[in-house]
Amino acid sequence: MITELFRPKNIGTVTIPNRLIVSAMVVNVCNDDGTLTDRFIDYHEEKAKGGWGLIITEDYGISADAKGYSNIPGLWDDAQIPGNKELTRRIHNHGAKIFCQIYHSGKQKMPNVPGQPLAPSAIKDPLVQNMPRELTVPEIRQIVKQFGACACRAKESGFDGLEIHAAHGYLIAQFLSWFINKRTDEYGGCFANRCRFLDEVYAEVRKNVGPDFPIMVRISVNEYAPGGRKEAESYALARHLDELGVDAIHVSNGTYASDMEHSIITNMFADNAFNTDAAQQIKSLVSCPVVTVNKIHDAQLALLGNVDVKPGPVVVCGGGEVGGETAEFIAQTNHDVTILEMRPSILADMFIGNMGSLLQHIQANGIRSITNATVTAINETGVSYSDGEGKIHTIPAATVVSAFGYRAYNPLEETAKAACKEVHVVGSAVKAGNALVAIREGYLAGMAL
Ligand SMILES: Cc1cc2nc3c(=O)[nH]c(=O)nc-3n(C[C@H](O)[C@H](O)[C@H](O)COP(=O)(O)O)c2cc1C
Repeated sequence: MITELFRPKNIGTVTIPNRLIVSAMVVNVCNDDGTLTDRFIDYHEEKAKGGWGLIITEDYGISADAKGYSNIPGLWDDAQIPGNKELTRRIHNHGAKIFCQIYHSGKQKMPNVPGQPLAPSAIKDPLVQNMPRELTVPEIRQIVKQFGACACRAKESGFDGLEIHAAHGYLIAQFLSWFINKRTDEYGGCFANRCRFLDEVYAEVRKNVGPDFPIMVRISVNEYAPGGRKEAESYALARHLDELGVDAIHVSNGTYASDMEHSIITNMFADNAFNTDAAQQIKSLVSCPVVTVNKIHDAQLALLGNVDVKPGPVVVCGGGEVGGETAEFIAQTNHDVTILEMRPSILADMFIGNMGSLLQHIQANGIRSITNATVTAINETGVSYSDGEGKIHTIPAATVVSAFGYRAYNPLEETAKAACKEVHVVGSAVKAGNALVAIREGYLAGMAL
């Protein structure tokens, strides 16, 4: 199995030295005009040095209007080619291959990006809250041409292939999906009509790059959005793409409208490798290679593995992130878990995308949460708390978990100062916080040296 991962594999005419593919990831560090920066090229070169067989770039705008993020790259102008030639040269130096992902963001355009959001139909985006304008047929034809011209420039820049981004709720996906595409002309309605835009994009791109240039298409196998496409129609779509002659299908999931557990970038509560079954199913239906993603990593996750929980009721004092996660973990084996939280709601300190999922798990596991509850005493048999009106209650507890909050912890500063001239104190040694704060402070301290 492991050795299989390191065997070469062809995508169309291109031999990828191994089966390790790094999927597209926006870093948003290019110039405003879509030309590349040294930072962008260096970042990709590091991936090539690391041994990836195929690197897929972040989504390149096919036009300035197509950009969904302010500082992503683009190939809508010949002036953008030289930087990309340098990028592909640097990647090839390390034996890796590189595909260029090309896209139009449609209505999924970040608020700080200039330009009118466009879509097959004027339906507000639930996340970005953009109200797009419906595209006219001449505009659709112009965008198809822009895809083709962009593909030409990618080939001229030395990319080994292309990935047409038809996933994640961007413009092509918007045409494919019935819940967004409400058109009544030849681009909306039945499956064949909803595929028409993608068909035309593929045909134009193929015409421009020739029969031997690899083209992969990325799709969301399940959009995990109300009314979004699910596996059944995606299998038909995959068959359709195979019949068109695409060189590979990349199976992803989600749109901006998905719930966090099934979003494009899932959170920690999602099942591991949750696209793999559908990708396997697609593999059985098509003749081209299939690529897939999402939480494909070691299942042996050691989560709070050494908590010693006695049988009987468990009371978790503190309903913040740590208390909530600990309660959820314990409730997998103990069905009598209560969270006591002094604030009016639990998980108030948590990133919203993770909070929704954890709340669902807390409810599904039958964990009780008592809010506006200030713990006043803990003894051998229970925990007492004062409610919002100052009344004292006592609940039984065989195990009590202390998750009252964080406190700064800095036992090493003095020792370090005794040994070194220059000492910088960062992260939770200064003020209790999360890893992002600590990483940033560590980075700034490192740069200041
Ligand atoms: C910061 C970030 C930016 C991303 N940008 C893109 C993108 O430009 N195009 C795309 O198709 N997917 C994009 N993705 C999704 C990833 O390609 C991938 O599908 C997802 O992160 C799941 O990866 P995993 O298999 O490592 O869990 C992005 C993901 C991250 C984390």
